[in-house]
Amino acid sequence: MDFDVQKIRQDFPVLNQTINGHPLAYLDNAATTQKPIQVIEAVADFYKYKNANIHRGAHYLSNLATDLYEQSRQTVQKYINAAHDYEIIFTKGTTEGLNLIANTLGEMLIHKDDEIIISIMEHHANLVPWQQLAMRKQAKLKVIPFADDYQLDFEAYKKLFTDKTKLVAITHVSNSLGTINPIKDYIQVAHQHNVPIIIDAAQSIQHEKIDVQALDCDFLVFSGHKIYAETGIGVVYGKEKWLEQIPPYQFGGDMIKDVTIEKTIFADLPLKFEAGTTNYVGAYSLKVALDYVQNIGLENIKAYEKKLLNYAIEQISQIDGVEYYATKADNKISVLSFNIKGAHPYDVGLILDQMGVAVRTGKHCTHPLMYALNLNNGTARASFAMYNTFDEVDQFINAVKKAKQMLS
Ligand code: ALA
Repeated sequence: MDFDVQKIRQDFPVLNQTINGHPLAYLDNAATTQKPIQVIEAVADFYKYKNANIHRGAHYLSNLATDLYEQSRQTVQKYINAAHDYEIIFTKGTTEGLNLIANTLGEMLIHKDDEIIISIMEHHANLVPWQQLAMRKQAKLKVIPFADDYQLDFEAYKKLFTDKTKLVAITHVSNSLGTINPIKDYIQVAHQHNVPIIIDAAQSIQHEKIDVQALDCDFLVFSGHKIYAETGIGVVYGKEKWLEQIPPYQFGGDMIKDVTIEKTIFADLPLKFEAGTTNYVGAYSLKVALDYVQNIGLENIKAYEKKLLNYAIEQISQIDGVEYYATKADNKISVLSFNIKGAHPYDVGLILDQMGVAVRTGKHCTHPLMYALNLNNGTARASFAMYNTFDEVDQFINAVKKAKQMLS
């Protein structure tokens, strides 16, 4: 299929509006993506004609909703090439997924004086659960530092392993900088030490092809809302051998086979990890969103986003007094973090907003990363998706020039 950005934009009603008297340029896609009409209508249609609680009723609607939920699981399975559909656990998002893993696998593997490896560029969602686990267990958190050009130091990573290392958790892509980590190499090293590794794919799922079998990761997590689905739905992929071994995360209905007052026999995978009424409509929205992405083609999306990013970098590099971070566009998704020298990023964001340009400002839930880079106020961050245009990049660059004039 030819990539036609104007046609794609017609699917996203929210983009077609003016903000503060300017056409909206929505460049906050790393925070959340907008939803195509196909997803919005599928959700409305579900509630209008298909809604009933899953896995419970003998009746038509319950069976229909259950079928759609399980089809959604299979769509996710195929999208990331998991070996089995029961290795896909629905959660409410990346954060819940990482908490699930820390509180099950982490609880099982980590004891006093053990070591957990994370990186300096982790989002708090892939840091705080491990930090708190380490505190509970009197274990130690070890951190992969930066090398240069905003990449992690792979050699330093290799040296962090000891016979006390029990877990590695690392992000595929930095939400603040856009850096793509060569996670396959990181996974191989962890496995040479017989250590399981968890991949945070929140910022890669919408830009990079993910094949969990080729990667051979033990766990991988992501959120639906970053890939054009609803909020409140996410995925934990786990290898069957781990999901069988670890205990359930939450207890209640739907995750049991039988219960007596004395004891409970837990359900088989995947329901063992899906206590209570799940967000089955959100799961269906994820199916529709993944179908939408596959219809356009992730490779086409990636190629287009790369052109947008390269153009934005070329333009911003010509503005004196603006610095930007993580410059290797080949090794980077479409995120551009920058600062106007001497200006607070929040003020930059406010001025951009006055010109219709939506960016995120601050430390982007990565405080340790910002402190390591001496960016104590954080950055302003423009992040591009498949529906952004070169005109929007121009609008953004003009707004940055204007903000520079006003703030310098
Ligand atoms: N984690 C999201 C971001 O990077 C919210 O903006």
